[in-house]
Amino acid sequence: MKQIHYISGVIITIFISFHLFNHSYSLFGVEEHILLMDKFRMVYRNIFAETLLLIAVFIQIFSGIRLFLKRRKNTTGFFEKLQLWSGLYLAIFFVFHLGAVFTGRFFLDLDTNIYFGVAGLNTFPVNLFFIPYYGLAILSFFGHISAIHDVKMKNNVLGFTPRKQSVLILLFGVILTLTLFYGLTNRYRGIEIPAEYHILIGK
Ligand code: HEM
Repeated sequence: MKQIHYISGVIITIFISFHLFNHSYSLFGVEEHILLMDKFRMVYRNIFAETLLLIAVFIQIFSGIRLFLKRRKNTTGFFEKLQLWSGLYLAIFFVFHLGAVFTGRFFLDLDTNIYFGVAGLNTFPVNLFFIPYYGLAILSFFGHISAIHDVKMKNNVLGFTPRKQSVLILLFGVILTLTLFYGLTNRYRGIEIPAEYHILIGK
């Protein structure tokens, strides 16, 4: 179970790295974000790549919840608990996030581009939900990676012990979350959401 979870985890981590890099392009404006997503879609919207990604996500959800139920009673240290709860949050997030993306694509017939992704983030009061929803997802991703690193890494790097390296990964996650929110809300001034996406925010 752990081995399958690890392999599907690597596949998903490759996608998420590109996905969050794509979101960092919001710092250069909405148009730049859309241009880069169109390029990346040539890879992950390919039927084989997307099928592999979705299978990996389903394996991650099921194997992750089984590992959570098995481990939750005998987990002590900060990073062990972080691994457990960040994993659970990601499993729940995947269900809602992919559910939303595929409903948008196949039922609402919307282009699930940046406007789809950040409509809620840029609209009060629904952003009171979307800020923690997306923020915890990015933090849980880096939290899960830093916890795995804490368990697996044995060597010092540039004088940093494995524990310090794990803390640095977590810190990077916090800084990236704030930076992505800065870009995805047009520097906290708000992105104008086109009319066809208003259905997502009850307008
Ligand atoms: C601010 C945070 C995020 C935003 C605004 C966002 C937005 C989006 C959008 C717009 C899509 C549709 C892409 C397309 O149609 O090509 C998407 C797809 C997806 N996102 Fe996110 N996302 C965020 C964070 C995350 C995180 C943290 C994860 C994983 C932990 C994640 C996993 C996925 C996956 C697996 C897909 C499906 C890709 C596909 O098959 O089309 N996202 N997201």
